[in-house]
Amino acid sequence: MIEASAPGKVILFGEHFVVRGTRAIATAVNLRARVRVERAEDKIVIESKNLDLRAVLERSLSSDVRAELAPYVSVLRALQERGYSLVPHRAVIASEMPLSAGLGSSAATSVAYALAYSALHGDPLKEEELFQVSMAGERVAHGNPSGIDNAIAVRGGTIVYRRGEPPKGANARLSNFLLLVVNSGDMRSTKEAVEGVLRLAERYWDVMERVYAAVDRLVERALQFMEEGNGPGLGELMNINHGLLSAVGVSTTKLDLIAHELRRAGALGSKLTGAGRGGCVIALVEKERAEQVARHMTSLGYETYVSEVGAPGARVEYIFK
Ligand code: MEV
Repeated sequence: MIEASAPGKVILFGEHFVVRGTRAIATAVNLRARVRVERAEDKIVIESKNLDLRAVLERSLSSDVRAELAPYVSVLRALQERGYSLVPHRAVIASEMPLSAGLGSSAATSVAYALAYSALHGDPLKEEELFQVSMAGERVAHGNPSGIDNAIAVRGGTIVYRRGEPPKGANARLSNFLLLVVNSGDMRSTKEAVEGVLRLAERYWDVMERVYAAVDRLVERALQFMEEGNGPGLGELMNINHGLLSAVGVSTTKLDLIAHELRRAGALGSKLTGAGRGGCVIALVEKERAEQVARHMTSLGYETYVSEVGAPGARVEYIFK
C-alpha cells in the first residue's frame, strides 16, 4: 500500500487573468489531499471520502462513473498512455481542504493519485510528468485550466506561473507573516466563473486589456515586495487585486464583507482567492496578530485556517510492503 499527498494552494495574485496569459503567484498551504492506493483482486475501485462516492471499474475503464470521479479516470488513462499498466487496485481519496472553495482540492487529489499510483509501480512520476498527468484530471474538472493549481500542488513552495511555461520558484521572505484562509461557505463552479471572465474580456477587450496589464504590473511589484519581506506593501497589493477581481465580476457581497472584516480586524490586506463567486478569502497577517484575527473570524461563524506561506509539495508519504 502506498500513500501520497499534495498540498492545497491559494493564489496570492493574478487568478483569472492567468487563464489568458498574464503571470500569477501561488503558494502552497498546509492543508493536504491524500490518496492511498493498494492492489486489489480484479477491479479498479475509486473512493472519495469527502464526496462519499465510490466507483467500481473494469480494467478497460469502460464503465460509467459519476462526473465528480471522472477526473481520476482521466488520470489513469494518462498514466496508461505513459506506459503504466492498469492493474486492479483500490484508491481512497481524502482532502483536508473544503471542496469547491478555491483551494485547489481537485488538482491536489489528481496529483496525489497520480503519484501514489506511479509509486505503486515502483516508478514515481517526476515533477514535469506528474504535472502533465494530473492536468488530464483538471481538464475534465474545469474545462480550461491554466495549470497553476497543478503546478503548485506538484512543486509546493511559492511560484510565479505563466500558462505554458514551467513554474518558477519565487523568493518569498515572509516568515514573519501568516496567511488566513476564510471560507465563505458558498460553493461555486470554477468552470462557470472562468467562462464568465473570458466572455467579459472578449466583449470589452479595449477596456480589459488595461486590467490585464495592470495585473501583470501588480505581480511584478508583488515579487519585489516578497523578496524584501514587505508585508504591508503586499497587503496593499492584495487589496488592489481584490478590487480588480471585483471589477471582472467574481466577487460577491459576502466575499467583499469578509475581505473588509479581515482588514478591520488587523490584516495587512485581503482578497478573494481562486475562482471567486464564493469560496475563500485570504489575508496576510503579522504572525503575532494571526490568532487574534482568526478567532475574530471564527466568532463570526466562518471556518478559518491559519497557514504558513509555502508549504511542501507532493510527496510519497509511506509504503507498506
Ligand atoms: C483557479 O484556482 C484559478 C483560476 O485562475 C483558473 C485557472 O487558472 O485555471 C480562476
